[in-house]
Amino acid sequence: MLFTILTLFPEALAPYLGASILGIAQAKGRAEIRLVDFRDFTRDRHRTVDDRPYGGGPGMVLRPEPIIDCVEWLERTDGPFRKILLTPAGTPFRQDTAKRLASEDRVLLLCGRYEGFDERVRTELEWEELSIGDFVLAGGELPALCVTEAICRLLPGVLGDERSAEAESFQNGDVLDHPHYTRPRVYRGRSVPDVLLSGDHAKIASWRQERAIERTRERRPDLSNNHQGHVDAPSNATSNDEDR
Ligand SMILES: C[S@@+](CC[C@H](N)C(=O)[O-])C[C@H]1O[C@@H](n2cnc3c(N)ncnc32)[C@H](O)[C@@H]1O
Repeated sequence: MLFTILTLFPEALAPYLGASILGIAQAKGRAEIRLVDFRDFTRDRHRTVDDRPYGGGPGMVLRPEPIIDCVEWLERTDGPFRKILLTPAGTPFRQDTAKRLASEDRVLLLCGRYEGFDERVRTELEWEELSIGDFVLAGGELPALCVTEAICRLLPGVLGDERSAEAESFQNGDVLDHPHYTRPRVYRGRSVPDVLLSGDHAKIASWRQERAIERTRERRPDLSNNHQGHVDAPSNATSNDEDR
């Protein structure tokens, strides 16, 4: 899957893209993540990407020409992209969105800055507008990383164990993840629940499902009533078996 991130600050993104899951996804050839500075598509000698807002007011607005020229050049070169414009005014980005986008071949993510984009950036091209939450960041770079990482970890072969993604929060409907435990068996007087040491995988699966549903009800009553989400029983024995 090809990700192309349009940003004025490629140097801010590069280190993160090379580390951990995103680095692994690229090393395994599952994803290619390319950074494009749309300032390179300006035509004036000052390389101007922004200007004062018509109608007055504070801040600067991103001009349409460099962005549109950049996107059109990329599409002429590579073919069409699923184009995503990052904005707090977009549709909330959710796990379902990540799942849907994971089936795309080419995704382009546009990071804004300053007061955001001239409205004609929106209207000139066909965008999916996404927000990563009801708060305002200084730029679209962190949202682009969030979206890219959420998609990449769903691509086949990226996670060490595909089952990791299957049982996570929001993966099977609007249900949060169950609690996890590892060694030591007793920590500061708090023990790992006995059921997790029982070796009975059906019992463990139903304990996890109950805890997940309970947690969702307590913490996120706003989520839909889809509390039937299931937590898959491990298909074979896990390392916990050693602790029995
Ligand atoms: C300071 S913000 C502009 C905010 C805009 N004036 C508004 O009130 O909606 C600059 C850029 O950061 C990005 N951004 C900030 N918060 C975001 C969020 N919650 N989700 C997605 N993108 C965001 C967008 O690309 C935006 O163009």
